[in-house]
Amino acid sequence: MQLNNSHPQVTFGVPLRALSVTSCDSVMAIQHNLQDLPQSTYILGGGSNILPVGYLNAHVIKPDLQGIRYEHTGDSVLVTAGAGVVWHDLVLDTLAQGYSGLENLSLIPGSVGAAPIQNIGAYGVELSERLVEVEVLDIQSRQILMLSNEECEFDYRDSIFKHELKGRVIVTHVTLKLDREPQFNLTYGALGNAVACLNDNPTTTDVSNAVIQIRRSKLPDPELLGNAGSFFKNPLVSSEQYNQLKLEFPGMVAYIQDDGFKLAAGWLVEQCGLKGYRHGDAGVHDKQALVIVNHGKARAEELLSVAAKVQHNVFDKFGVRLTPEVQIIGDSELIERSGLILA
Ligand code: EPU
Repeated sequence: MQLNNSHPQVTFGVPLRALSVTSCDSVMAIQHNLQDLPQSTYILGGGSNILPVGYLNAHVIKPDLQGIRYEHTGDSVLVTAGAGVVWHDLVLDTLAQGYSGLENLSLIPGSVGAAPIQNIGAYGVELSERLVEVEVLDIQSRQILMLSNEECEFDYRDSIFKHELKGRVIVTHVTLKLDREPQFNLTYGALGNAVACLNDNPTTTDVSNAVIQIRRSKLPDPELLGNAGSFFKNPLVSSEQYNQLKLEFPGMVAYIQDDGFKLAAGWLVEQCGLKGYRHGDAGVHDKQALVIVNHGKARAEELLSVAAKVQHNVFDKFGVRLTPEVQIIGDSELIERSGLILA
């Protein structure tokens, strides 16, 4: 099916201009479209983690495969969902069936097919902890392939789909393993407190509701204020750099990792005095400094230039380079001109 709207909005509230945009509701439809499209293709998920800049010289395919099916295996259950299922609808469906495992990932915008690309994560849980396998369509051979969890090479907001398989496969289905008896992860401080306020003996739905409450209090609803969640990743620094920074900035928020410390990028941005910063309609969210927002009619270039200002100010103050978590696509000259360093 060809979309009538040739400029569909992404959650950042800017248009996606491309050679064509086609929504495909089956594997066959995708295969058929790939045959007709000799030029480059770009695969669009829910549009909640991209910033299109200028014109995208590619045919955009939006896989819209639906359907959720369950298969019981002992204490666990496997759930397989189509790439086009809205992620939060999948979470709600698993809760309604009485299964646990996805509650901490409630209300993350986007589609099931996009979830493994950036290994979505929130409130102490990452998709990779639940993912069993990903079904993909190889663009070159048009064959269906299965990738195991290990083969996806998951890392923090990262996977093989951002590297070796970038532009080479289209995610069609995702299979996750859930629990029939809940085993909550309440390690994220604010979540534990919020759950305790809701119920002494919490259910999976209570945990999901607490997550939704926390998200709504910090993260803007893209329907009301254009954004793509955290614009930058939390940077990893060596223990040596962390110790030096901690001496100079004792209040710095950081999390210990196997290979150093992950710094809370939102804290770094806030310390630069940029929380709530606004230039025209582009700005930094006033409740979460890691989120770049579109107050209305900001163009992609204006959003990029705010992001570049954030990146440069943080580097000047802390010597730490923030790298974008959001995928920036489109006109490379315009992207370069913004001054934002991508990697
Ligand atoms: N902080 C500030 N000022 C701010 C924002 C944060 O000081 O303006 C400090 C606070 O101390 C806070 C800490 O930074 O305790 C961490 O902030 P928060 O808990 O809001 O999480 P985050 O590290 O900024 C990450 C994910 C989010 C995810 C939350 C919760 C990344 C890039 N972002 O944000 O994911 O929802 O943790 O788990 O890892 C996304 O990927 O788009 C996203 C929203």
